[in-house]
Amino acid sequence: MDYKKYIAQKIKVVGVSEEEIYSSIAVPPDTSMGDYALPCFKFAKVLRSSPVSIAQKLAQEIAADDVIAKITAVNGYLNFAINRGSFVADTLKTIEEQGARYGSSDMGAGKTICIDYSSVNIAKPFHIGHLSTTVLGSSLYKIFSFLGYNVVGINHLGDYGTQFGKLICAYKHWGNKEDVDRRGIFAVNELYVRFNSEATEDMEREAREYFRLIESGDKEANELFEWFKSLTLKYVDKIYERLDVKFDSYNGERFYTDKMQPVIDELKAKNLLKESDGASIVDLEEYGMPPCLILRSDGASLYATRDLAAAYYRKKTYDFDKCLYVVAYQQNLHFKQIFKVLELLGNDWAKDMVHVAYGMVSLEDGAMSTRNGRVVWLEDVIDKCVEKAYAVLQEKNPDLEDKADIAEKVGVGAVIFGALYNSKIKDIVFSYDKVLSFDGETGVYCQYTCARARSVLEKAGAFVAAYPAGYEAEEQEFEVVKALSRFPAIVKDAAEKYEPSIIARYAVDLSQKFNKFYFDCKILAADDGVRELRLCITRATLQTLENSLALLGIKVPEKM
Ligand code: ARG
Repeated sequence: MDYKKYIAQKIKVVGVSEEEIYSSIAVPPDTSMGDYALPCFKFAKVLRSSPVSIAQKLAQEIAADDVIAKITAVNGYLNFAINRGSFVADTLKTIEEQGARYGSSDMGAGKTICIDYSSVNIAKPFHIGHLSTTVLGSSLYKIFSFLGYNVVGINHLGDYGTQFGKLICAYKHWGNKEDVDRRGIFAVNELYVRFNSEATEDMEREAREYFRLIESGDKEANELFEWFKSLTLKYVDKIYERLDVKFDSYNGERFYTDKMQPVIDELKAKNLLKESDGASIVDLEEYGMPPCLILRSDGASLYATRDLAAAYYRKKTYDFDKCLYVVAYQQNLHFKQIFKVLELLGNDWAKDMVHVAYGMVSLEDGAMSTRNGRVVWLEDVIDKCVEKAYAVLQEKNPDLEDKADIAEKVGVGAVIFGALYNSKIKDIVFSYDKVLSFDGETGVYCQYTCARARSVLEKAGAFVAAYPAGYEAEEQEFEVVKALSRFPAIVKDAAEKYEPSIIARYAVDLSQKFNKFYFDCKILAADDGVRELRLCITRATLQTLENSLALLGIKVPEKM
């Protein structure tokens, strides 16, 4: 049951909607005053009365019942103490019944959300800079699916551009098939890097010609391009699999080659296309932005042109309610321009486009994506984390079986959790030691808490769930159950804010509360009835932590 909702329904304030009351109800950190509180300051204006007297009046109007044990007015706050026994029983029963579905909903039924994430560039390194978009997008995919939405995951491949002409040219001059077959994307990337430092004028010219050949459908050029593309995808697919990331579409920039002209025609028809030094632009000065470049003076399309075509295609194909772009904040302007142009074209759905921006990831030693040519491949970061996780497990629990498998879950989980723990817009400095800490605010800590809960349940063996009537829950028990009851609201909040970190933080908070309960309250040695109740709390915590971590894309080992 949603206690906040139950309480909100009981409070009637003239001129204030139930939703508004609902969202104003807070859960005070100190429960001595009550479990839920409504600050009445906001209503002073509408009611032309002081917060203190509003709270007092409301306290008299609302009667206590089975759910609400006591209502008090203190300094402009209306405080509710709930009936703890029935709250605990009610919450635990709900989790028991719903299991892996606990926290899910059908609020998204009939609605479609497109999420554009990861969007790798063909023949370029899949580096640490791609970590956030990949795991953020994937987590949002899982969260929205859990809430009943139809989600379309799109990998908008960077597979269009003159760089592919360069690559083919470099391969023709210096390439070697066996080497590319053997070392795949690494060999291809080297060719590209070499071209950029060594190419002569002649080679540059040749590269432009190769690009033109790809465009005009030349067989050999396209075969080479497709080969490089498949090597890249084969490589990134391995990483996607480890990170539990999936896509429904790999329609990249190239897919829109023949879909840009209608957009250009429409821009022309609506008088939005202007000429500027031979190029075609949409002037956005009025909106405080530089122009959106649509065609270069040589007639070539741009990144923005393809994004406009992609937006139309997605609307037409999926009829989305929202279309998200999980892309670094460096592209803020790009998306503002795209969304504006779509709006100027008269599409009311332009308002449904959302740029979910995120910050930079760097490593502690200062290494960062492709700057100064110091590429940090994402796979190396994951491998190193798994290796370190193995060493930590070896040290903590040398007898553990299946250590390699557990180290993979712990190491990969640490990378994902490290990327999702902070508000997405913050820049993060990735530290191996930090993300692998067993007692920090980490994925490892949450996974370890699950293993602990599972081990208690294993020791207990079979038991019959019990919720002793009238049992006055201990503070530690009540804190855990209260945290458990918040989970459905947490998932919704994370979805509304496009912020998986809300779930990551919740998982840490729940783990901390459970561990306090675990250390302060005897579970297995408690009296009959209480023992079963505590086992129910343990089982519900395990379930809710597993549900939380699953939404982040993190797997939970049985033992640690
Ligand atoms: N491939 C691009 C990059 O690495 C990201 C593409 C994002 N998606 C989009 N529809 N523009 O910067």
